[in-house]
Amino acid sequence: MSSPSGTTPRAQPTESTQPTDPTEPEPTGPVPRLGPADTARLAARVLIPTIAQGAIARRPRVVGLAERLDLDARAVATVQDLHRRYGDGPVRLPLPVRRFALVLAPQDVHRVLEGSPEPFALANREKQGALGQFQPHGVLASHGEERAERRRVNESVLDTPQPVHRLAGDVVATVREEARLVAQQAARTGRLDWAAYSTGWRRAFRRVVLGDAARDDEGLQQDLDALRYRANWSYFLPRSRTRRDRLRGRLGQYLERAEPGSLAGLLAQTAGEDSVVDPVDQIPQWLFAFDPAGMASIRALALLAAAPEEAGRVRAEIEGVDLDVPQELRRLRAAVLESVRLWPTTPMILRETTRDVSWPTGRLAAGTAVLVYAPFFHRDDDGLAVAHRFTPELWTGEGHDGTAGDAATDWPLVPFSEGPGVCPGQNLVLLTTSTFLATLLEHHDHALEHPASLDPDHVPGVVSPFRVRFRTTGR
Ligand code: HEM
Repeated sequence: MSSPSGTTPRAQPTESTQPTDPTEPEPTGPVPRLGPADTARLAARVLIPTIAQGAIARRPRVVGLAERLDLDARAVATVQDLHRRYGDGPVRLPLPVRRFALVLAPQDVHRVLEGSPEPFALANREKQGALGQFQPHGVLASHGEERAERRRVNESVLDTPQPVHRLAGDVVATVREEARLVAQQAARTGRLDWAAYSTGWRRAFRRVVLGDAARDDEGLQQDLDALRYRANWSYFLPRSRTRRDRLRGRLGQYLERAEPGSLAGLLAQTAGEDSVVDPVDQIPQWLFAFDPAGMASIRALALLAAAPEEAGRVRAEIEGVDLDVPQELRRLRAAVLESVRLWPTTPMILRETTRDVSWPTGRLAAGTAVLVYAPFFHRDDDGLAVAHRFTPELWTGEGHDGTAGDAATDWPLVPFSEGPGVCPGQNLVLLTTSTFLATLLEHHDHALEHPASLDPDHVPGVVSPFRVRFRTTGR
């Protein structure tokens, strides 16, 4: 699983998933297929509800409905049932228009993610259709040489391996300034909700990514939001050239301005005018990906409000240090990691086979879309004893009770993916979200009003970030 520092220990595939065993004849037929009734159930209970909530931009009303019906818990139960009946898979889905396969075994998650981008390409057709709406040359939509160059630039600007980014002095100051304003306003009104939280969070990350000049650039945000809602429809909607050109133009201006202390400033130094990288097209991914980080962190705050013992440990962590000094706040990072484990913001990790690939049960043909449904692995209580329990110890290296000891080493907890396509922004996200939360908690208490009955020992499948609400008081 991904470790708190962002490095991803490589788990070896177990024997059963080794693609070739010299003593056994290789199976020549395709891997097993789901029956029509099971395919219909998978579509109705897993694929449609997940896609309807919005793959690229969440739709608040649908997420609210999903919360009321606890749809993601039902989705996990559906895949668990398939795993029990079909075994370790993978299984093909008999869809008319597209070759599609579902990963069912923990060890196959590692195999697919570690085997990216060859033979499991990140840039599959659906992703290219979606991301093509606003960043056709972004790293995640790229393959081959272009991808390698773009990945290199992303890792350099985002300081991927570093728990504390080289711009952390500026980043922490900015995030704390915006979080303080959120906390003060919440204390005045007595209420902290998504609207107040996300307004402050978005101001903070626009400044981190583009510079202080972008703090109130709502126009840019509106264009990006509109394009992301189009992207939810992938290639089923035509591209909106006007909006995309306007977004590119605006981002190009920030890149030219290259404000010191911002990611745009670093990008200008790192990539210059490089035509293969297309620096401007790398920025939308950063802006768009900071949004789910806001969702993850408000839900982490909700978990802490529901779990007083862990909240006490977090308080002890932040009271003992000078928060203006950039640092790794381990307990708060673990709370955010738990939030994305329990409610992954990238529930569907998609790959596409670039050639035929062998499994002990058969072959997957080249051009098959391969789906890792992360909530299943994060919440599979057949394999992970603490599946539904808020367990920060999974990420702090302290060990935890329950029988899932092995989970700490090779159970696939992949909220940030893993392998060569792992999220290069993970450490930056954890730095910014932990700093934001620490500042909110520094002088204020936030009592959970919704969801009022959040039980840290049995966390529901869906908590809509748009409905989370706290009663805030000064300390
Ligand atoms: C809670 C916040 C975030 C989560 C859970 C998250 C998770 C992920 C995941 C699962 C992927 C892999 C997607 C795939 O394989 O299809 C990914 C890719 C990526 N993320 Fe994040 N991300 C977050 C925030 C960010 C932020 C803030 C940035 C940049 C500032 C960022 C930059 C990227 C980039 C550039 C990629 C593409 C990597 C590639 O194609 O090699 N992410 N992220």
